[in-house]
Amino acid sequence: MIASCAAFATVGVPALAAAAGEDPQRAPGDPMRVTLNVNGTSQDLSLDVRVTVLDALREHLHLTGTKKGCDQGQCGACTVLIGGQRVLSCLTLAAAAQGKPIDTIEGLAGASGTLHPMQQAFIDQDGFQCGYCTPGQIMSAIACVREGHATTDADIQEYMSGNLCRCAAYPNIVAAIKQARELMHG
Ligand code: FES
Ligand code: FES
Repeated sequence: MIASCAAFATVGVPALAAAAGEDPQRAPGDPMRVTLNVNGTSQDLSLDVRVTVLDALREHLHLTGTKKGCDQGQCGACTVLIGGQRVLSCLTLAAAAQGKPIDTIEGLAGASGTLHPMQQAFIDQDGFQCGYCTPGQIMSAIACVREGHATTDADIQEYMSGNLCRCAAYPNIVAAIKQARELMHG
């Protein structure tokens, strides 16, 4: 909760509005224009300046693949990639995500429906049970491999430690990441 409050406190409403080229005197709660690039598509939205990327995705763009678990930066269920980096979308303001590509679980499969190697690996290795944490796990796992933090089991466990799984599918998740790692490094 402290981290969440700090994240909002450090980016004030006037500063965000000014950065967006809008009237810095806008009252809190008044909507502002926000353009997000989600899965390669530009999306123009009118949002309360305090709306997070997570709520913009789920409530405004109806992309509900990204899950809301704790909504306070502790579970990783909301992980997406912004500018290629994994971030917790529940702690990231939509207005601050403008100008960078946002990748979500909905954008991973190819046009023909071919799954991303990480998606296929989670299926092959039974890397989920209820599946609630899975979109966040998969997005985080892709970044983990790209970062070069998936060379050993210990590395994977360390660098995936921000993504909790209440079903405790952890051994299968590690196995899935190792399977996908080979294909991603091709
Ligand atoms: Fe964002 Fe839990 S919903 S970390
Ligand atoms: Fe159920 Fe991870 S598969 S929380």
